[in-house]
Amino acid sequence: MKEMKKSGYETLIETMVEDPRLKRMDQFIQHGNVTTLDHVKSVARMSLAVNERLGLNGDPRVLVRGGLLHDYYLYDWHHYDGGRFHGFTHPAAALKQAEQDFDLSDREKNVIRSHMWPLTLLHVPDCREAWIVSLSDKLVSLHETLRRRR
Ligand SMILES: [Fe+2]
Ligand SMILES: [Fe+2]
Repeated sequence: MKEMKKSGYETLIETMVEDPRLKRMDQFIQHGNVTTLDHVKSVARMSLAVNERLGLNGDPRVLVRGGLLHDYYLYDWHHYDGGRFHGFTHPAAALKQAEQDFDLSDREKNVIRSHMWPLTLLHVPDCREAWIVSLSDKLVSLHETLRRRR
């Protein structure tokens, strides 16, 4: 039963990334040679794994949707402001884009808006899904950054 559930959310990831709106994230580089689309897929998967391994009882659907949309800002951040303020500014940009294109729950909005906390001091994760995605984003970003320095 547990296994079936897991593959069900994996299927949700695969279905969602076929959406042409979401697919636009494959045009932008996140870290090194990792596209933003690859990055958000890894974060969605990591969020499901963290949730399950630590028994955190997060809603897997919110983890997948929030995880896939957390960096939905759709521009090349390396050229935007020289990337200097990207860490501070992109959660709001991602939320604005995601709200335009998708019907989001309050928890999904919080996942996106707070994922850079504590950098964005005033936007604190206020549900367990937001904490899980925020942690998973940091783990995946660390891995993507260190892997290319090997
Ligand atoms: Fe981000
Ligand atoms: Fe991210």
